[in-house]
Amino acid sequence: MFRIRTASRALRSFHSSTARWHDSVVVGLHSDGQLLSPRAMAAGQGKESLEVLLKASGSKGKAGESRVFYGDFGLGPDVKKIAVVGLGKQGTSALAKDRVRMAVATGVKQLKAQEAQDIGIAPMGHDEAAAEGASLGLYKFNYFVSGKKSADAEIKAGKVAKVSAVDLESPNEIQAFKAGQIQAKAQNLARILMETPSNYMTPTLFSQRVTKELESLGPDVVSKLKIIVHDRAWAEENKMGAFLSVAKGSDEPLRFMEIHYNGGKPGDRPLGLVGKGVTFDSGGISIKPSQNMALMKGDMGGAATVAGAMWGIAALNLPINVVAAIPLCENMPSGKATKPGDVVTSMAGKTIEVDNTDAEGRLILADALTYVSKIHQPHTLIDLATLTGAMDVALGSAYAGVFSTSQSLWSELDAAGEEAHEAFWRMPLHSVYLPQITTNTVADLLNAGGRSAGSCTAAIFLREFVYGIERDEGFAKLEGESSTEVGLALENPEGLKPGSVRYAHIDIAGVMDTQSSSGYHAKGMTGRPTRALIEFAKGFTTKA
Ligand code: BES
Ligand code: MN
Ligand code: ZN
Repeated sequence: MFRIRTASRALRSFHSSTARWHDSVVVGLHSDGQLLSPRAMAAGQGKESLEVLLKASGSKGKAGESRVFYGDFGLGPDVKKIAVVGLGKQGTSALAKDRVRMAVATGVKQLKAQEAQDIGIAPMGHDEAAAEGASLGLYKFNYFVSGKKSADAEIKAGKVAKVSAVDLESPNEIQAFKAGQIQAKAQNLARILMETPSNYMTPTLFSQRVTKELESLGPDVVSKLKIIVHDRAWAEENKMGAFLSVAKGSDEPLRFMEIHYNGGKPGDRPLGLVGKGVTFDSGGISIKPSQNMALMKGDMGGAATVAGAMWGIAALNLPINVVAAIPLCENMPSGKATKPGDVVTSMAGKTIEVDNTDAEGRLILADALTYVSKIHQPHTLIDLATLTGAMDVALGSAYAGVFSTSQSLWSELDAAGEEAHEAFWRMPLHSVYLPQITTNTVADLLNAGGRSAGSCTAAIFLREFVYGIERDEGFAKLEGESSTEVGLALENPEGLKPGSVRYAHIDIAGVMDTQSSSGYHAKGMTGRPTRALIEFAKGFTTKA
């Protein structure tokens, strides 16, 4: 008795190859005519009848193509629908992988629209991408439509469509599928955090929600996590004058989330992640025009993608140490708000003239970067932020901009972005932009550098607050001259070797939201580049 129960439970959790619990299945077709039918199907009449139907339908296996067929295809008594999705050319490239991601998402969406609730995904050659496509494709943000119950209630009532693998055999295939599901879930979490209106996603609510999501990973994972939610008193103790100056215009209290994931060797320097968490950016006293201001509920996209990536890294149980710092506040105009021309003192001691209160992201990031680099001394430090409208002007939604002086860090991010199909483009992090923020000011730095190269002046501003970073030497080095002193070097704390921190700033303003709903895309906030971040973090597990 006991044995039978264990066996059936094990089967269920391994997504049985008999497809007994599915009501529909997604199957891939390559443009060379190869149908990736599940083994169970190949053994019976099912495959032949599907091939006849396919031929009649004129399916060519082109990317983007998806057709649903009805009948009994030998995949178990409950499977009555099959979506055959076009995968295009076969291949091992990142592009071929993304075709699988897109195709599976398209198939899943089509089946879901036809009342499917338990969708099986046949092996696609790229099982991780297939799982990602399936879970990303199911994402729908409808929590605020009256009449819809909460997602939790719908899942309990069995109303929400779910996906699982059919016919995966090797442990590697099963592992890949599970990883893909985790990565997509991480991105869906980031999407939800970003899309949720600011009155339901305040700094306090954000920190509570992320804590809850991390704790839901279970005691084994939680034992490797340390989650600390700091308040204003803590920020004051740490003299985070830049962060505090943004938060003080709002009635909503600030939060500063610190998440440690210790999956690596104790004492090993961590990877550091910092995310801009402005839960609403009105611009402050330098108020924004009302057109499209609602989009600024997503100005915590950096925070959301960092939180999503932390969730994914922990769920995947990666053998690395990571520390995440997420400064959270609103940027609001009020009688208590910072005014243009005010001067504030950052944690690093540098003074900043707030020329434009709408350039608030760099202020909260400055203190977070100082805190992480000085106190936790990561080997690699990356911040993500919906920082400048200029980034969208420059690259649009095709690429997020990466600003780094480290060639190796850029290469690793570039590769991760390509794998995840959340691409990065390198932008200059260069002292040549410093004069725009160091001249014509009564303080050390200005928080806004004028119209030209808006994303580059924001990036070079941030670099001024990172300890242990390698600095470029301006154009002097190119001319073969000895280096010129540029910017205000920080006195490194004891034990932190200068140049031992690789730093990158990623401006995600352009990729924050999308109008597309094709494949795994969904109109609205994107949660990009959560999967690329996880992919990047995986890189350390092979090196270590
Ligand atoms: N959050 C915005 C940047 C932004 C704009 C993100 C559009 C996503 C879409 C940021 O805080 C901001 O307002 N930046 C200013 C900086 C300027 C005042 C120097 C900008 O880009 O206009
Ligand atoms: Mn702003
Ligand atoms: Zn902002």
